[in-house]
Amino acid sequence: MTDAAPGAAQRIARWQRRAGRHHLPWQGTRDPYRIWLSEIMLQQTQATTVIPYYQRFLEAFPDVHALADAPTDAVMRAWAGLGYYARARNLQRCAQTVRDQHAGRFPRESEALAELPGIGPSTAAAIAAFAFGARRPILDGNVRRVLARYFAVDGDPASGPVSRRLWAHAQALLDAAPAGLDMRAYTQGQMDLGAMICTRHAPDCARCPIADDCQARIQGRQNELPSPRARRARGARDGLMLILECTGRILLHKRPPSGIWGGLWSLPQFDTLAELRAACATHAPQACGPTALAGFDHEFTHFRLRVSPWRLQCDDTPADPAPDEAWVPIAQLDRHGLPAPVARLLAGLYPPPTG
Ligand code: ADE
Repeated sequence: MTDAAPGAAQRIARWQRRAGRHHLPWQGTRDPYRIWLSEIMLQQTQATTVIPYYQRFLEAFPDVHALADAPTDAVMRAWAGLGYYARARNLQRCAQTVRDQHAGRFPRESEALAELPGIGPSTAAAIAAFAFGARRPILDGNVRRVLARYFAVDGDPASGPVSRRLWAHAQALLDAAPAGLDMRAYTQGQMDLGAMICTRHAPDCARCPIADDCQARIQGRQNELPSPRARRARGARDGLMLILECTGRILLHKRPPSGIWGGLWSLPQFDTLAELRAACATHAPQACGPTALAGFDHEFTHFRLRVSPWRLQCDDTPADPAPDEAWVPIAQLDRHGLPAPVARLLAGLYPPPTG
């Protein structure tokens, strides 16, 4: 294993203080709740996308008790659009665990943080560094790329063996640094390097504080490393969605708590056209048959969902909804925290009034 050059961690910290990001809304606080929330949101999406969600979320849930005590629906609504709803459920579960098992205070140690729902070892280390100055390595997606280049590590950085090597390198970089290393600047600096300098497609080695001893750069391999991710075979699934409109209301269905879009309101979804037609007959017995609309694909991490939307409009008084269903006035659809592709589909059919 190539040794970390002495001083590399300090160069990253110094560079961060001079040239890194300093005005992100989750910087300048040591409140572990705010830091935790930002790190969970940032697992998902890049900083510029997260900022408005983060601010709205904090207005709705300003502290761990507000989030722990909130109706789950309200949390899902505030999260909708950030994708991957298991994270939103874990987010509230984590807040409840902090409330119930830690007297409402986030633990200070990275190891204890990593036991909370939704917090992996890298996120735990980042929270502990930002909130408490703890000295632990991080290894998120960006940092994997930086270290795979700096140490010239071949292989898919997300695979088990390569991941273990990268963790060992991350620890070695830290071990080679002096005791006084500024952990906040160092931790943020690794993230900022990945986001601003050591980018996937165009690493800007001329501005990189660790370019002198970066093995990929020395070997001229900075555009080859990290090795491309091994492609997973991804399946496709088909789903039929029903847009049933009765007297200005749309039938929504609350999805079961686990599985895709778990716990979110969505359109009723079916595996077969026969099932979809049966639902139309139950809810709108007087109406003619539904008509097909243009289909679309939605990509999940592990598979592609091919959606075929069907629409039925009728003037019947809506039949009583089942307990996991609701008839929602068209003007109120956006209050329900729908999955983004479903919201887009409905916005195309029922454009919000302008002006
Ligand atoms: N990505 C993950 N954590 C981050 C942070 N604290 N700032 C910017 N981007 C990040």
